Amino acid sequence: MKYHLECIGCEAQYPPTEIVYVCKRCGDLLDVRYDYDILRESVDTSLWKARPISVWRYEELLPLDKASVKVSLGEGGTSLHRSVRLAESLGLKRLHVKNEGENPTGSFKDRGMTVGVSKAVEIGAKKVVCASTGNTSASLAAYAAKAGLECIVLIPSQKIALGKLAQAVVYGANVLQIEGSFDDALRAAMELAQSKTGLYLLNSINPYRLEGQKTLAYEVWDQLGGRAPDKILVPVGNAGNISAIWKGFQDLNQLGLISNLPRMIGIQAEGASPIAEAFRRGLSKIKPVPNPETVATAIRIGSPASWKKALRVVRDSKGLMETVADAEILEAQKLLARLEGIFVEPASASSIAGLKKLVEVGAVSCEEEVICVTTGHGLKDPEVVERFCEKPITVEADQNSIKRALSLNS
Ligand code: F0G
Repeated sequence: MKYHLECIGCEAQYPPTEIVYVCKRCGDLLDVRYDYDILRESVDTSLWKARPISVWRYEELLPLDKASVKVSLGEGGTSLHRSVRLAESLGLKRLHVKNEGENPTGSFKDRGMTVGVSKAVEIGAKKVVCASTGNTSASLAAYAAKAGLECIVLIPSQKIALGKLAQAVVYGANVLQIEGSFDDALRAAMELAQSKTGLYLLNSINPYRLEGQKTLAYEVWDQLGGRAPDKILVPVGNAGNISAIWKGFQDLNQLGLISNLPRMIGIQAEGASPIAEAFRRGLSKIKPVPNPETVATAIRIGSPASWKKALRVVRDSKGLMETVADAEILEAQKLLARLEGIFVEPASASSIAGLKKLVEVGAVSCEEEVICVTTGHGLKDPEVVERFCEKPITVEADQNSIKRALSLNS
């Protein structure tokens, strides 16, 4: 068999046919583990080159049966933008932005959902469920619609960006607002999935979803012409994505396709930063934040499910975790938009804000090749722009008024 599920704590193994989200023995998270000898035989990079750049270019490295239906909306293949003007303003030479907002529903979640929902179909699930700060629900709702599955999403009753809620509703999901935080909603979703309701859970504790998300690393390797960068900055909430991206680079390394591994840098918002706090204090466990608060609602998470994976990733990759304040996030959002023409939602801008901070303290140097992952599209959260950006002024429809307003002489 090409792969199995394995507990990251006690290393208990489970066959792919078993529906299990956390280890039945010790309750820890699971990972998909491959037999790299089998993979080495099936991977042919010239075959990859003949396929369009996308999640499915790398299908030999994904945990699905060959014959399975692939539920796809054209995910992955997002641009790696060489960001010269932003680099100059930060004092860097080689900076790229991997803009995940270019995915079908506007966030990186689509990479995970194409694989996760394909898996749901493969195992015969008819209903899927997730808890979400917004993007996961938008993405799951879309892929469930494509596959003809019933979709239930649990969202915190407040502070979910309007665009994301609109997406889940219009794709036809059954949306429940839970009185409480994202952490409460996730607990409820996990209990639902584990209580014989027939609901298949597609949060990022589902290891198959993270397999889709790891393809970001493969694409970066492809887009850089077959190498890894020195450092990658990733916004961190529930901490699935940073773990997935690291796994992608490790796969490439195991297959002999890269010799250098990037340092992984996770960025959390100051008011929701239990992992960064544990990293800073050298602790092996996080202390959940009871009332997380940040303008970056996508990462407003006090008890991240995959904290253990994330702490391992930053330790193993010799990376780090950093925090950024809301004001720094909002400033970075504008900076990226105005210097590079890339509009991202606040959570995504945290990677840019984190980079600025780390360059200032000398933790990232100008010679290094750096990638910032921006995770979601700016149009998902227009309210934040309305609240924090300049408002347009209204003038009469005559030339004099317009010129006066624009300080144009003639
Ligand atoms: N950026 C955006 C735009 C997100 O939506 C999320 C997570 C993250 C970053 C953090 O990724 O959780 O893998 O560390 N959003 C989840 C959701 C929680 O429900 O949409 P992570």
